[in-house]
Amino acid sequence: MRIDFSEKIPNNVGLKENRRLQRALENWQPHYIQWWRDLGPVESQELDIYLRTAIDIGAEGWANYDYVRMPEYRWGIFLTPPEEGRQINFGMNKGKPAWQDVPGEHRADLRRLIVTQGDTEPASVEQQRLLGKVCPSLYDLRNLFQINVEEGRHLWAMVYLLHTYFGRDGREEAEAMLERHSGDPDKPRILQAFNEETPDWLAFFMFTYFTDRDGKFQLLSLAESGFDPLSRTCRFMLTEEAHHMFVGETGVMRVAQRTCELMREHDTNDVRAHGGIDLPTIQKYLNFHFSCSVDLFGQELSTNAANFYTAGLKGRHRETKFEDDHVLEDSTYRVPEIRGDDIVMVEAPALTSINEHLRDDYVVDCQRGVERWNKVIRKHGVDFELTLPHRAFHRRIGLFAEERFSPQGQRVSEAEWNRRRDEWLPSAEDHAFVRTVMQPVTEPGKMANWVAPPARGVDGKPPDFEYVRFN
Ligand SMILES: [Fe+2]
Ligand SMILES: [Fe+2]
Repeated sequence: MRIDFSEKIPNNVGLKENRRLQRALENWQPHYIQWWRDLGPVESQELDIYLRTAIDIGAEGWANYDYVRMPEYRWGIFLTPPEEGRQINFGMNKGKPAWQDVPGEHRADLRRLIVTQGDTEPASVEQQRLLGKVCPSLYDLRNLFQINVEEGRHLWAMVYLLHTYFGRDGREEAEAMLERHSGDPDKPRILQAFNEETPDWLAFFMFTYFTDRDGKFQLLSLAESGFDPLSRTCRFMLTEEAHHMFVGETGVMRVAQRTCELMREHDTNDVRAHGGIDLPTIQKYLNFHFSCSVDLFGQELSTNAANFYTAGLKGRHRETKFEDDHVLEDSTYRVPEIRGDDIVMVEAPALTSINEHLRDDYVVDCQRGVERWNKVIRKHGVDFELTLPHRAFHRRIGLFAEERFSPQGQRVSEAEWNRRRDEWLPSAEDHAFVRTVMQPVTEPGKMANWVAPPARGVDGKPPDFEYVRFN
């Protein structure tokens, strides 16, 4: 399954056999490139960047690394190969063959799922567009751009589905993807976490750790879809997503490491005086990004999620690994409820609790990285522990959005919230300080003072390799 790169749009979906579709996508392509130039990474058009491009969809050796200018990146359409005899694995259509076309009765719901996923992809590129100007190193700059071009490709993946299976409204939705913009008061992105700013590199590392991980869980659930083209698209996207989360996890780890080094070296907690980012500030950033990301899973109880599941449109992540009937009509699941000042767990129908189930698994996955970060802190003999805030903290969607909770999950009054907000979330002053340490470092092998160098480089190259060439 090698990808045909001689075509205007590289693909492994036989685009040249479908002239109408090919033309429609070739018409969308210049709009996409224009969007990239207008709202993609600033001042990056002339840079030669050591990027990977997918050349094959097999598990091994799918990527090729070389210097590329981003506007010339070969964005394309790559699906994992069809699985012979694939069936729908859950819901009322369980056991039936997976759909190769969109079933009429599920058209609107599938379109909505694809548009919601697709909208997040260009949104994150927009959120990150200024970061290149204050990169801590060429290694980091290259990783930022790698993520950006791949999020661009993920948009291509969703646009391919819209164009291919949803006719005229699909084409309109594809245009609208380039018309909504992150943070635009009139035409914002669909989900709130994608309208927040990513103002600095600590925010970027937190975003790629927590918010790209939400992406992983959404893609895993969509990879279970009975609509086979969606499943195959998401499967390939997941191979790229792993690198984004790696950048986040190792990024936060390197910041924590550097902070601990500075604490030891100067025998002080006040690392700001030495150009480091103190651990309490890292914790506040973590609180912010975690809380925005858990919101992305939606309401605790959701009939939409239940309907998507029952219809076979969106499963649980790794659906077939669960040992139950995969119909869930008679099952229950434990969800939180607010009773007075307390949060209690109650049984609810498993079907309507699908979102909460996914959120639970996400939280467990998030915890793993936090433990790795704490290991680094402990190794330096520093007495501090990073923690995930309680899921009730700082929520804007669902049950907990109505009330105020501390990071420990205690209900607090509006007055206490206002008094303590800056202890829990990055304050204007914290942001201003972090901004001061964000000075660009663009000499090969040099690293900003607030972050430790990576353990290894990219594609077997050393960390001091010239990952980006300025012209
Ligand atoms: Fe993505
Ligand atoms: Fe991503």
